[in-house]
Amino acid sequence: MPNASLAYTPEVAAATRPLYQRLARIVPEAEWPRHAPLVHAIARLKRERRAIVLAHNYQAPVIFHGVADIVGDSLALAREASRTDAEVIVVAGVAFMAETVKLMNPDKIVLIPDPAAGCSLAASIGPADVRALREMHPGVPVVAYVNTSAAVKAEVDVCCTSGNAVEVVESLGVPKVIFLPDAWLAHHVAGKTGVEIVAWTGSCEVHVRFSGEEIAEFRESYDDLVVLAHPECRPDVLAVADLVGSTAAMLDYIETRRPRRVLLLTECAMGDNVSAAIPDVEVVRPCHLCPHMGLITLDNILASLETLSPRVEIDPAVAGPAQLAVERMLSVTPARRPVHG
Ligand code: 13P
Ligand code: SF4
Repeated sequence: MPNASLAYTPEVAAATRPLYQRLARIVPEAEWPRHAPLVHAIARLKRERRAIVLAHNYQAPVIFHGVADIVGDSLALAREASRTDAEVIVVAGVAFMAETVKLMNPDKIVLIPDPAAGCSLAASIGPADVRALREMHPGVPVVAYVNTSAAVKAEVDVCCTSGNAVEVVESLGVPKVIFLPDAWLAHHVAGKTGVEIVAWTGSCEVHVRFSGEEIAEFRESYDDLVVLAHPECRPDVLAVADLVGSTAAMLDYIETRRPRRVLLLTECAMGDNVSAAIPDVEVVRPCHLCPHMGLITLDNILASLETLSPRVEIDPAVAGPAQLAVERMLSVTPARRPVHG
């Protein structure tokens, strides 16, 4: 029997109308009666539970614009997680992001609506691999992209995100670092810093699908195309981009420069979120979705708030050192603009 509280009643329609007006360009009207009761129920439960939803820029527009309290790139989510006074934090993102939030909030309830939401980078390396790298390169500091498990973070000197990787590596003041797990981000950082980098061989299954040839074809088809690329893309792609940056850096570029047309070389849902928020900029995008990010839905966010599960728990043996690696990163990078949803 359908849950009566999830009916599309006149009250739900009225309460969610302003939100739908924002999303009308990207969410078909016929779909709204399915989303609106979930959005409405999540808002009510958030109040009752003193909960917030943190959503990554790759979350579907109904989540990103519909129920998130704080949105941003991995760096912003890690930073905001260290500041919130909410009692319950729902992470609309992938598992490594939820683990980072838990590391910063060991005493709070941190929920991940689908714990199977992984990441090809995080899956590419384990703690024993880091120990082996250290043995091969004694005395060389280890920098880990946040797209790693807590167990890996516990083995490294400092974390970084795509938004601060160059700053973090430069802050170490050494001629050589081990950088893991993303080989292409490592390559990009080596080029920007001149620091010799020992790289792991991980890659993002979404960003490796873009190619320099594809970008050249887009440039031929569209005038005035500004190409924004995430540093997880391959070097042939980064070489022809106008800006290489984190998802927050791309958004910042679009908000401040207002290009007529952008090619977003990153996960596809972000293009929808940008289109909803900044309708005067045309977003051209070869659509590659992250299957892991897509596991988070309004239905499982609601279920998570109802049951206060699944909770993120971190092995106490790794929590301390992993938290230190994240805190070292946050101390290197000054806070940026607020990211409230
Ligand atoms: P950002 O830190 O740029 O948001 O990227 C996270 C990520 O998973 C990219 O694929
Ligand atoms: Fe991981 Fe790539 Fe998905 Fe980001 S887009 S979460 S790096 S698989």
